[in-house]
Amino acid sequence: MQFEFWTKGLADLAVDCVAVGVHDDGELSAEARALDVRGREKLARLVKRGDFTGKAGETWLIDFEGIRAERVLLVGMGPKVELSRKAWRRAVGASISAATRTRITSLALALPRPAAKALTDERLGRAVAELTGHMLYRVNDLKSGKKPRPHALARVVVVGQAKASQAVQKGFAQGSALAEGAALMRNLANLPGNVCTPSYLAKTAQDLAKTYKSLRVKVLGLPEIKREKMGCFLAVTQGSEEPPRFLVIEHRHPRAKGAPTVLVGKGITFDTGGISLKDPPTMDEMKFDMSGAACVIGTMKAVAELNLPLNVVGLVAACENMPDGRAIKPGDIVTSSAGLTVEILNTDAEGRLILCDALHYARRFKPDVVVDMATLTGAIVVALGVHHTGVFANDDALAREIVDCGLVVDDRAWHMPLTEEYGEQLKSNFADMANVAGRDGGSITAAAFLARFTKDLTWAHLDIAGTAYQGGAAKGSTGRPSAMLLEFLLRRAAR
Ligand code: BES
Ligand code: MN
Ligand code: ZN
Repeated sequence: MQFEFWTKGLADLAVDCVAVGVHDDGELSAEARALDVRGREKLARLVKRGDFTGKAGETWLIDFEGIRAERVLLVGMGPKVELSRKAWRRAVGASISAATRTRITSLALALPRPAAKALTDERLGRAVAELTGHMLYRVNDLKSGKKPRPHALARVVVVGQAKASQAVQKGFAQGSALAEGAALMRNLANLPGNVCTPSYLAKTAQDLAKTYKSLRVKVLGLPEIKREKMGCFLAVTQGSEEPPRFLVIEHRHPRAKGAPTVLVGKGITFDTGGISLKDPPTMDEMKFDMSGAACVIGTMKAVAELNLPLNVVGLVAACENMPDGRAIKPGDIVTSSAGLTVEILNTDAEGRLILCDALHYARRFKPDVVVDMATLTGAIVVALGVHHTGVFANDDALAREIVDCGLVVDDRAWHMPLTEEYGEQLKSNFADMANVAGRDGGSITAAAFLARFTKDLTWAHLDIAGTAYQGGAAKGSTGRPSAMLLEFLLRRAAR
């Protein structure tokens, strides 16, 4: 996809279609009025008749004469007063989506925009490219029937003021990288467990290293994982025929100063629950239990694509959680690589087991900050629903930074508490700690388990069980929290 910024008159713009906004009181936007002067007030007549009401997200494609573009797409912007970022994003998404249902190859977006304090020029460019990628994404399904007609859209032109040009162009590059990273995440997460195995994740990372010079990938197999004494990770994988993989993906930049940012992803390629077997109805969704890993891999691609002046290390612990004659049993006690012993009271609380060994591995990079992401608990979905990612951290400033990143890119997160009391609930009679602490505050006790392994690190944990994928009719990966994470890394690179 090609992105361009246009700062001159709309009438001379050589595109198939120009998208302009209409407010829901039937008032044409300034851009629409400018066009209308050239088109004998067709738009004004149309709106006056009440044919198009300007309801947020509604679109209508019409023929238009008097300008170079042959078509105009009317886009509903909702209420006129203080256009929100949400309404703007919806209008951009609707414009792209409408264009893909036609033979339009080039589309200009001449829409009203939110105030600069709500959306900077750079983030505007980023959001347009991100939304375009998001709207054009198609699930790599395995349906054998006729494939739907591919869309024709190849060029998106944003119309704006000359002074914004540089920042918007920069945003386009960021947004294109983000869209590609998020698409990779979604592809990986949407694949079934019999295709997207730990080895498949490893192969994907190794392929990235062939494309991007800044990336170095190391893959640990079973012998190396044993050598690292990752007893908790080994405990989870021992019930599976599929070999585990531990991925180390490093992005190095010659101009990057300071300790690396380490990202850690939960890569359970299928979570049956193990001997503490899950209920059947939605068990298929546990193929998404590697969403954290997929987000790390997708984000490393975006970081490499942008060649960010920042050292970033991505760590992924990948295996299956299966019931088997050799599987771990409730009550089993294992020793983590950090030396702490863990009584596994519930084999379905496996995410924290593989993460504790991955977090311990992160120490060797002497990281500036460690952020893990995991579809860790059903309890976070009970607490926050599907709208906010849960943020837990042993550093309030870091949690606030992450929440702010999510806010400005509309990939929201909520700061959850993580005080000592929750950790105390993990007491075991037989080991240093148990892997579960009952139903109450389940997402917090899970985070408290991880906190035991990150004491002297600056660390945050993102519970993405509610946000990384959707269930129901539109079942599939959402690509979240790729946008929030990239904003976080961009800010660090700019320091
Ligand atoms: N992968 C699940 C968490 C999950 C649940 C993600 C629903 C997405 C949707 C995790 O491994 C798990 O099973 N957690 C248990 C923890 C419990 C046994 C303490 C849970 O949430 O039920
Ligand atoms: Mn589980
Ligand atoms: Zn799980």
